[in-house]
Amino acid sequence: MNAKNITLEDLRNRDRMWRPACHFTPALNWMNDPCGLVYFHGQYHLFYQHNPSDADWGSMHWGHAVSTDLLTWHDAPIALFPTDPEGMAFTGSAVVPSEKSAGAGWNGEPDTVVAVYTGAIQRTTPLDNHQRQCIATSRDGHTWVPEGVVLDNPGIQNFRDPKVGWHPEAGHWFMVLAVERNINIYTSHDLRSWNQSDTITVSTALPAGVLECPDLFPLPVMNASNRTEWVLVIHVENVDPADPGAYYTVGSFDGHRFLQTYDAFLPIDGGHDFYATQSWANMAPGDERRVWIAWSANSAYARRQPTSRWAGVMSIPREIRLRYMDGRPVLCQVPLRELASKRRSSVEPVQQRFTSAGLSRYYRVENSSAWDILVEAKSCRILLSFGSAGFITIYRGQRTFTIDRTACDMGRFSGLVDPVKTIVLYPDCGEKPLTRVLFDRSILECFLDDGHRATTDLVFPEVPLQGIVVAAQLYDGVQVFPLRPAMHRDTDRF
Ligand code: FRU
Repeated sequence: MNAKNITLEDLRNRDRMWRPACHFTPALNWMNDPCGLVYFHGQYHLFYQHNPSDADWGSMHWGHAVSTDLLTWHDAPIALFPTDPEGMAFTGSAVVPSEKSAGAGWNGEPDTVVAVYTGAIQRTTPLDNHQRQCIATSRDGHTWVPEGVVLDNPGIQNFRDPKVGWHPEAGHWFMVLAVERNINIYTSHDLRSWNQSDTITVSTALPAGVLECPDLFPLPVMNASNRTEWVLVIHVENVDPADPGAYYTVGSFDGHRFLQTYDAFLPIDGGHDFYATQSWANMAPGDERRVWIAWSANSAYARRQPTSRWAGVMSIPREIRLRYMDGRPVLCQVPLRELASKRRSSVEPVQQRFTSAGLSRYYRVENSSAWDILVEAKSCRILLSFGSAGFITIYRGQRTFTIDRTACDMGRFSGLVDPVKTIVLYPDCGEKPLTRVLFDRSILECFLDDGHRATTDLVFPEVPLQGIVVAAQLYDGVQVFPLRPAMHRDTDRF
């Protein structure tokens, strides 16, 4: 379709077909990385990289939404604007000092949330010295006061995306920062004055490309009592589009230096579209979970999405854990358990028949755009049917998992992405073999077993979902839940 000939009705149709109902999207215009994820004053805050004047990357602000359950988000006014002299508000994080540093708060104020982010001055020549780490403070999480640069640029082009955390044993703050092909660690007692304590060089352990959006946090290991490992997360920009570019490794961290336990960095997600993940700095009191969210996109083609009035979708928030498998701790991700509260009653198949793949159950899709499908089976086939436009096929075998988007694919990105992708499963599937599929108009997330494998893919079918087919053995457990919309935004108002 010629962009010039797009009518308002076309735009509305695109929203109806592709605007997810349970995943966060910006009301209008461009969104990329999640930023400043924090719980403050009874609300979860989701800030995000946002260009408020175009559905393409551009002048970076921090867009803002709040939630009490991490699923139903309410738009809030823009939190951070580009300023002089800080420049654009690139990615960063936020913390609540009074919770950690012995109640010291911020400048004696107990009730403050502090954002640490990259101020980026738009300058092309010379390219260095233009990314510095800045802070902004807020008393309510909504109105922010920029307080200037706290870590200046030593003459390096790519020097960004500070993620700040608290090290309980060392009793100080730390910051991980992406610096070209390294991750630098800095420490601080007041979030203003920072000293470098380590440089982690990834050398050839990762595909070539600039590093972005690091994160570092402790996680208990599920099947090893009292054992906790530190997880270092790294993203690599513009890798092969078949690889979303999100990696992790585990190690020990004494507050100053990170020591990798295993050489390898493992991919976080087996799909194409999972990038710039960030974990919440804190959760509601008493909630010990580590939850993260990612920008569901691939940096290789993120700017070519066809949604038009808005661009960008976040993954469903995921609880993350570690589990020993194959002799090392493996990151497991499962959708936030509160998502179950969005389920309507499970639907029954309208037709069943025996096929070579087992009992094939057909579910009719009426009105609901989002689905949560659970299949307890060693092998199964799940087809998302788009009528004459074809199927998305999801196949779980004994050792492999394949998503085939050929019929309903990213044709618009052809040449960049192979519509068929197969990943290898771990031999030990934990308690039970479970394939869980979340489909929400233009995003498909799959979780295997206890989440030791997850895939995230964008899909832009030309027609809405019409039916779901699940083929598995007669005795295998199959549940198909329509999901109630979590977002209550009237997208037709624009
Ligand atoms: C990652 C990223 C970050 C940067 C931000 C700018 O997607 O490139 O490194 O801070 O986006 O929007």
